[in-house]
Amino acid sequence: MSTKIAIIGAGGMAAYHAKGFRAAGAEIIALADVNEAAAKAAAAKHGIDRVFSDVGTMLKTLPELDAVSVIVPNKFHAPLALQALAAGKHVFCEKPPALSAKEMTGMQAAAQKAKRTLMFNFNNRARPESYAMMEYIAAGQVGTINTCQAKWIRRAGIPGFGGWFTTKALSGGGPLIDLLHMIDLGLHFMGYPEPAHILARTFKDHIDNKAFKGPWGIPDVAKGTTDVEAAAHGFVTFKTGQAMSFAVSWAELNQREEVSVTFQGTKAGGLVRRLFGIDGLDNTAIDACQLYSLENGRHVNRDIIVPADETMGRVRSAVNFVRTIEGSEKPLNTPDQALALMKIIDGAYKSAATGKPVAL
Ligand SMILES: NC(=O)c1ccc[n+]([C@@H]2O[C@H](COP(=O)([O-])OP(=O)(O)OC[C@H]3O[C@@H](n4cnc5c(N)ncnc54)[C@H](O)[C@@H]3O)[C@@H](O)[C@H]2O)c1
Repeated sequence: MSTKIAIIGAGGMAAYHAKGFRAAGAEIIALADVNEAAAKAAAAKHGIDRVFSDVGTMLKTLPELDAVSVIVPNKFHAPLALQALAAGKHVFCEKPPALSAKEMTGMQAAAQKAKRTLMFNFNNRARPESYAMMEYIAAGQVGTINTCQAKWIRRAGIPGFGGWFTTKALSGGGPLIDLLHMIDLGLHFMGYPEPAHILARTFKDHIDNKAFKGPWGIPDVAKGTTDVEAAAHGFVTFKTGQAMSFAVSWAELNQREEVSVTFQGTKAGGLVRRLFGIDGLDNTAIDACQLYSLENGRHVNRDIIVPADETMGRVRSAVNFVRTIEGSEKPLNTPDQALALMKIIDGAYKSAATGKPVAL
């Protein structure tokens, strides 16, 4: 019998979740959204039969559900995950895992209590470049990654003004928490070492300037709130002796949008990168996956050739969730890792607010 899944949230990411779940052989039996009209439209678009405007009613009406995916504004990730786990469902939740490490601790405990899988959509781990790089790392060809630089920098990429993305109470913050993918990917390559300290700064320049609006996002809200950062830069040290620097922005005077992790290992360095010609437009993207080594006394650069994936792993990541709950693949991420990541995000905001380094 195929795995039965419901999607919660009718936004743009539902298309990738639906494609991935179906590619893995799962059945999508319902879609829920507090906005019933949006739910109906998305369900029709994705060929999903049942529509609900209340998640509790859906969970009661469809006891045969095995899992849900949560694709709603960040503030609702933790409450919806807790509700679904309490009903005995596996949960695939969009990033960021939660608004804070405290919320994430509750979600982790709930998953343990329910004995259900809780995974997050760190889709960049499912990119062909990341799978390929992990094979080199697992084979010992990179050695220990001493240092790593994680970047998701945009020039004009504010996802709308005054909506939930720019309202800290709903989003948890700006690009630091929204674009946490590359910090996660760097940690994934480094073996998710235990963080020791963090020092970070956030900047609000350009956050209310329409010239820095992204080509996508959600509609502007005229009298809405904009109280998040436009950019964040920081440095994390780990108990292992490793270190990571990061740069994330929605609005900053950068040359172009860059999404990358660069690292320096004891046996090889490497890079996984997407460069966008125009912020956020995939058909202008140039992807790279490279290793830098010393072979026979010579410096060597290698391009690792992988299939193109315009979706940045979004479909493959949803496939991994289904295969994880069915037992045929290992999860690409765990609640332990999500908690470590949320501690880094919390620490970065605290360091930026106090102007001091923070022990993690
Ligand atoms: N992994 C990625 O690449 C990626 C890309 C974009 C967005 N996201 C994440 O997806 C999530 C949703 O983002 P979006 O851009 O689709 O937002 P959106 O505002 O376009 O859509 C969110 C939907 O959730 C619904 N909703 C709100 N609260 C709800 C609740 N309590 N119960 C049920 N439905 C509710 C809204 O009515 C809306 O239709 C965010 O967490 C975001 O960070 C991830």
